[in-house]
Amino acid sequence: MDRIRIVGGNPLNGVIPISGAKNAALPLMIASLLTDDTLTLENVPRLADVEQLIRILGNHGVDYSVNGRRERQGEGYSRTIHFTARHIVDTTAPYELVSKMRASFWVIGPLIARMGEARVSLPGGCAIGTRPVDLFIDGLKALGVEIEIEGGYVNARAPNGIQAGAYEFPKVSVGATHVLMMAASLANGTVEIRNAAREPEVTNLADCLNAMGARISGAGTSTIIIEGVSALSGARHRVLPDRIETGTYAMAVAMAGGDVTLEDTNANLLDSALDSLRAAGADITPTNSGLHVRRNGAGLDPVDVATDPFPGFPTDLQAQFMALMTRARGTSKITETIFENRFMHVQELARLGADIALSGQTATVKGVETLNGAQVMATDLRASVSLVIAGLAAEGETVVNRVYHLDRGFERLEEKLTRCGAVVERISG
Ligand code: UD1
Repeated sequence: MDRIRIVGGNPLNGVIPISGAKNAALPLMIASLLTDDTLTLENVPRLADVEQLIRILGNHGVDYSVNGRRERQGEGYSRTIHFTARHIVDTTAPYELVSKMRASFWVIGPLIARMGEARVSLPGGCAIGTRPVDLFIDGLKALGVEIEIEGGYVNARAPNGIQAGAYEFPKVSVGATHVLMMAASLANGTVEIRNAAREPEVTNLADCLNAMGARISGAGTSTIIIEGVSALSGARHRVLPDRIETGTYAMAVAMAGGDVTLEDTNANLLDSALDSLRAAGADITPTNSGLHVRRNGAGLDPVDVATDPFPGFPTDLQAQFMALMTRARGTSKITETIFENRFMHVQELARLGADIALSGQTATVKGVETLNGAQVMATDLRASVSLVIAGLAAEGETVVNRVYHLDRGFERLEEKLTRCGAVVERISG
């Protein structure tokens, strides 16, 4: 298994290109199941999760090509990929595939809408909490879908198609909002989704569906109205920049010090996280094509944060911000309100010398003068990158084990950091 070795102490200086967002690319790829025409997606990041979803979609009959030809490894950054689901050959998403990537459960939306049936495995447990699927099921039922759960599978049937209706989420869910929006695109009538997720990835998916001929309004607000259409066509659509990758590198610069331009991104996608970073002492200026992050000399101030659905502070940046706060001049409180068990990075950060006390959903982080390099273990995607951030400021050598988590969500992390002067290398095997 690959590891990442970091020698801390160098500031970061230069330019980091930001990739297309994993969390936008995945639902957009799944939307290709809704049409027999070709959906072309630009700016698709090269990530293990994307490759895995390509395999899963292939199982349902989605063919793909990269820039008009088959995939070749080792070229440039994000790519343009054409997805064509001419015929759906299988409406079952088996356990072996869904358990590898939770987001693949979302195929239930397009499959039920286009084929009138879907059999999708429950995703099973997950390292960051139980992550149930009750909201997906209740939402689909509100649109006339008959659902039975049997033997670990969700069996869904809608012989007369998706029906007009309304559903108010009792809790905000990004994935369930994606799924209801995709299913409702082909509804017989109008669907209203209330308390919808407002994440930019939801808006990106709605824009793509509209380019495919859907009639969706209100995405980006809590009420989304979808007037169903009888069929969708192909389209060409660009994956939006990865706001979590943007925030992660901004935090890396705040941690290591230096001066970096984050390119091909948009500061408006992460106002809340950038406000917290500014309060901690980073100097952040939006530019035409991204943002500029700087921290010179002065130390970091402690800042309290609590995660919240968009536009609040993203749970996917909680671990990274905690890493940053381990070096602040004082005590900060970090509260996780979205997932009940998203603190696995705490014990790994402690191995580097961080002083963190956990009580329920709140971590109290007392800043320390120095972190010291050590062997640490990546436990999930965002937790693992928080260890890299800590390693950039730790004295000596930090080795992050199990980096396959990182490869799920960060495109060429070590290359991007190395170009800015960090000592980061991948050790294979
Ligand atoms: C997406 C993101 C993930 C991010 C999360 C929250 C992708 C691929 N993943 O995950 O990176 O951390 O949003 O911003 O886009 N819940 C239920 N019942 C359900 C569904 C969800 O109780 O049926 C709960 C979850 O357990 C969690 C909360 O709702 O506590 C939010 O989860 P949700 O927004 O659905 O997260 P994902 O879409 O899985």
